[in-house]
Amino acid sequence: MIRVLFVCLGNICRSPLSQGVFEDLLRREGLEGEVEVDSAGTGAYHIGEPPDRRAQQTASRRGIELDGQRARQIRPEDCDYFDYILVMDRENLENVGLSCATGSRAKVSLFMDYAPQAGEREVPDPYFGGGKGFEYVMDLIEEASRGLLEEIKARRTGEHV
Ligand code: 4NP
Repeated sequence: MIRVLFVCLGNICRSPLSQGVFEDLLRREGLEGEVEVDSAGTGAYHIGEPPDRRAQQTASRRGIELDGQRARQIRPEDCDYFDYILVMDRENLENVGLSCATGSRAKVSLFMDYAPQAGEREVPDPYFGGGKGFEYVMDLIEEASRGLLEEIKARRTGEHV
């Protein structure tokens, strides 16, 4: 079992979208039983809440439902439980770096590192509106998810050789 954790600030917009998109991709590839997916926030503001309504609507338009998710905050144990921790921006990277000691199991990286062709290093925070909004965030997440899937498939193949 490979374990993947998506992390943003509030765990109500970007990381729940990432979890939903990546789980959907895994299901379509028949890999849902082989990869465990979760999401968390570095902040505590929204613990226990469902994803932001705008995130839910954006996902729904692409056939993905987020309503079963509830926000939680990242815990130190996550660093040794998950294989991959994918963060949305550099601020998340810094905060997760403070939680996860060097030598932790998890490989911590910017999620957009899996889509170098997208021309963005970060998934921008859509919460306060402005920017290019939730649709753009969703496009970036879909692209990075495809890259991450390729990485995980290559890793599985490597393990089975
Ligand atoms: P997220 O978006 O990190 O993608 O879940 C945010 C959600 C809430 C806040 C900031 C960003 N907030 O400040 O409450």
